[in-house]
Amino acid sequence: MRFTVAIDGPAAAGKGTIGRRVAQRFGFAHLDTGLLYRAVGAKVLAGAEPEAAARALTPEDLSGPGLRTPEVAQAASRVAAVPQVRAALVDFQRDFARAEGGAVLDGRDIGTVICPGAEVKLFVTASAECRAERRLAELVAAGHDIGFETVLEDVKARDARDTGRNDAPLVAANDALVLDTTTLDVEQAVAQAIAAVEAKLR
Ligand code: DC
Repeated sequence: MRFTVAIDGPAAAGKGTIGRRVAQRFGFAHLDTGLLYRAVGAKVLAGAEPEAAARALTPEDLSGPGLRTPEVAQAASRVAAVPQVRAALVDFQRDFARAEGGAVLDGRDIGTVICPGAEVKLFVTASAECRAERRLAELVAAGHDIGFETVLEDVKARDARDTGRNDAPLVAANDALVLDTTTLDVEQAVAQAIAAVEAKLR
């Protein structure tokens, strides 16, 4: 069976959590596509040229250490605005999406550009303050010494860059179900996502 769930939305809105839970529930594979851009961003911080880094990316690069830092997140957001970088990553994502057994992909342009024919599209969002609070808790738990204002600035800078770029900007697909996690808690958002998939599987 081929079945694709596309989850898009801004940084720290809860896409990853919802994606993992949906994948678990239905036995689908899950790809956090932000890791592709983070892995390229990390290589660029280490001196590589963006397009070459994207072309040379291997699945092993996605599990590399240090991809979850604010520095790498900003670098990812910058390389993600380079059309040649995005183009180099398309085939890997589409192959993953059409793999036998079902797939969940989360990112910024999955429902609009990578998988416009996805069976289910979700757009997960939340206020910038709410997302910054969650990201701060994650970073502090991971041992980072960082404050709320810095994280909020970081979230807003990435929102502006990810929404404002010309190539595959962050935007909800017309046919996406919007889940606003400012008002929904995790369990409610996951339940709505699962219900959307069940409705299409029937
Ligand atoms: O989801 P994330 O925070 O790990 O993503 C890091 C950056 O990568 C994000 O700021 C924008 C970029 N990105 C993208 O442009 N398209 C995607 N499908 C996923 C991420």
